[in-house]
Amino acid sequence: MINNKKWTTNSWLEKPAKQLPVYLDHEKNSHVISELSALPSLVEAESIDNLIALLAKACRGEYFFIQSGDCAERFSDCSNYITQRKMLHIFQMGDILSKNLNMPIIYIGRLAGQYSKPRSVESETIHEITLPVYKGDMINCHEFTAAARRHDPERMLTAYQCAKIIIDTLKITPIQNRIYTSHEALHLPYEAALTRYNNKKNKWYNYSTHFPWIGMRTALYGYAHLEYLRGISNPIGIKIGNVNQLSEIKKILSLLNPENVPGRITLIHRFSAHNIQDFLPRLLDEILDSNQKVVWCCDPMHGNTQLVGDIKTRSMEDIINTLFKAVDLHYKFGTTLAGLHLEATHEDVTECITDKTKFQESWLQQNYTSLVDPRLNAKQSFEVVELFSSYYKRFFQKLAFG
Ligand code: PEP
Ligand code: CO
Repeated sequence: MINNKKWTTNSWLEKPAKQLPVYLDHEKNSHVISELSALPSLVEAESIDNLIALLAKACRGEYFFIQSGDCAERFSDCSNYITQRKMLHIFQMGDILSKNLNMPIIYIGRLAGQYSKPRSVESETIHEITLPVYKGDMINCHEFTAAARRHDPERMLTAYQCAKIIIDTLKITPIQNRIYTSHEALHLPYEAALTRYNNKKNKWYNYSTHFPWIGMRTALYGYAHLEYLRGISNPIGIKIGNVNQLSEIKKILSLLNPENVPGRITLIHRFSAHNIQDFLPRLLDEILDSNQKVVWCCDPMHGNTQLVGDIKTRSMEDIINTLFKAVDLHYKFGTTLAGLHLEATHEDVTECITDKTKFQESWLQQNYTSLVDPRLNAKQSFEVVELFSSYYKRFFQKLAFG
């Protein structure tokens, strides 16, 4: 069993890895890693433990959580002002949820570290020029030039500095004890450099974020990302959207949560409106059969990406249908849907389609600023949250009145 082998912050290096960038300048890379390892923690062990406790309560239906933000954060957005706008947007969505569900809310941003992206292809061709794909501001630059697309380890230091500015801003918000950061724990050199032992608690923590999650493309048994995650004490999210993941999920859960601690694992299912009816019941069956205590969260975005011409988009209709089906299915299986995961922004972007029938490609081009996946704009996000929570509320009434 992998469980019994000794874990270190670098034991993942001995496993096969997916999605990691290649640095050609090894000397520069190791210099950056030693610098990063000496920098102060970004978050505190106490607040990481608090989040596990809150998520355990969410699992029992006492809290609901909203996890939202950009698909890929930009370094250029790390100002106090933009961070406050982003947080306000999450609070406003939380207010709607709280009012309709009559529950206290846990606020989780895809924030302060969402700087590295898994990609389905390695290169991109425009006008017969082929360059490496953009992999997030921590790895390379979005601009389409050879120099910009080079993987540069020094960007890890900038990522740390940007995350620090954002986290310092969060500390001065009024309900800072219920605001948490999260990002995909994809770029393991960065995550490992910020992973440290806490002598008082006798545990390892990833101090770069409260809530790291593992993406669908890297949640593979026997691979590097799971090896890294099994050793840290943070709550962990696992994205599930691929049918092949179903056969491994029990093994993954016993690897990451051998003691079945409630709040430790959140399963973020990200099926499409079309697939959820088939796949979510299979996932729910696997988990119910395993007796693992997990927190359930629905990401209605990532299964519903479609291409219009060359532009990635998602429709409100698919997003809402996915959420309604998730509510129905969790109710049917007696499991508690405790969280909502969105890619959304406070800005007035034109990235997701509101009305498929009236849709025009030229509309998408008006204000499409996402560097990777399409986000809901403010208006769309409030509508999604309102429709979702009004629908969900009826099920609580069903539970209360039979
Ligand atoms: C994401 O959350 O941006 C993402 C890449 O998700 P997934 O791993 O579910 O595709
Ligand atoms: Co995304």
